[in-house]
Amino acid sequence: MSYNKEDYVRIKTEFSQKYIRARERAQARRNELHAKIPEVWEIDRLLSKTGMEIMEAITKGGVDTESRIAAIRKRNEALQAKRGELLRAGGYPETYSDVQYECRRCGDTGYVDTVMCECMKRALVLAGYESSGLGGLIRTQSFDNFSLEYYRSSDPREYEAMQRYVTWLQQFAERFEKDTYQNWLLVGATGLGKTHLSTAVAKTVIERGFDVLYVTAVGMLGDFEAKRFGNGVEAKHDLSRYAEAELLIIDDLGTEMTNQFTLSCLYDVINQRINQRRCTVINTNLSYKELEARYSERITSRLLGEYRPLIFKGTDVRRQKIKKG
Ligand SMILES: Nc1ncnc2c1ncn2[C@@H]1O[C@H](COP(=O)(O)OP(=O)(O)OP(=O)(O)O)[C@@H](O)[C@H]1O
Ligand SMILES: [Mg+2]
Ligand SMILES: [Zn+2]
Repeated sequence: MSYNKEDYVRIKTEFSQKYIRARERAQARRNELHAKIPEVWEIDRLLSKTGMEIMEAITKGGVDTESRIAAIRKRNEALQAKRGELLRAGGYPETYSDVQYECRRCGDTGYVDTVMCECMKRALVLAGYESSGLGGLIRTQSFDNFSLEYYRSSDPREYEAMQRYVTWLQQFAERFEKDTYQNWLLVGATGLGKTHLSTAVAKTVIERGFDVLYVTAVGMLGDFEAKRFGNGVEAKHDLSRYAEAELLIIDDLGTEMTNQFTLSCLYDVINQRINQRRCTVINTNLSYKELEARYSERITSRLLGEYRPLIFKGTDVRRQKIKKG
């Protein structure tokens, strides 16, 4: 697991703030109790000396160390009981001034010993959804609601091919590790589930704790242009993520404008990611022929050599859904 760095820093800060706020709230309640019930103030004063007393008992040493410590414990229990009674009599719950962390397991530190707490992992996954650029797609497109029934046609090979693709992509996503290296090229006509399946892959990989970036080719090249030409438009994503995200999904390749600049950006992203063995998924409506006509040899030879092609066939699922009503 390696998460998006910015997300990690932000969540870590949020956690330390939560931890501080919880302690401040408890302290404010103690102060309130002390002002209202002076006996509680006296009890808390005695209780706060416990650590010191135990230290003293240990330093003194001797045969009765144990019994001295036991006596301190016993006195504390009595003080606690008395404190509880006083609070109840004053109309407060006994736990009124206890520190109330949002997460009891980690006390809002995000870690239990050195292991990241589930609550922090959850926060990071949610942040990962946000920073993936997938927006609402993450809620509507998953492996769970991807149906193979749309690929039943007169040619059973269409169904069988899709069945294989789903299995491969699901395994790829569910077994994603730091050293996973596999690129995919999803090719096919409109409405056949390329975006849906790549979103499902993204979601699964984010949930495994990796940094995923989803962009359209238009959006990605727009980011590079914004940076290069500084035309007052801000890049949507930090450009370093195009090289560093552990999984990059470039959707709708072929819908962007082609010129020297966009071609060289596209080449750089594809080439860098291959060299660094980082996984990329590219979706396109273009056939191999069309890809070759549109992109330089340097780009297409990499797509052909380093990407596993998944050719989508069938009938536009958008239209099938409309027909079904
Ligand atoms: N097998 C499927 N099961 C359920 N829903 C599907 C399936 N395939 C596609 N859809 C739905 O149909 C719509 C179109 O699919 P999607 O956007 O994935 O197509 P696409 O191949 O990316 O098309 P385009 O080339 O136009 O981008 C989406 O709403 C998607 O959720
Ligand atoms: Mg699509
Ligand atoms: Zn926790």
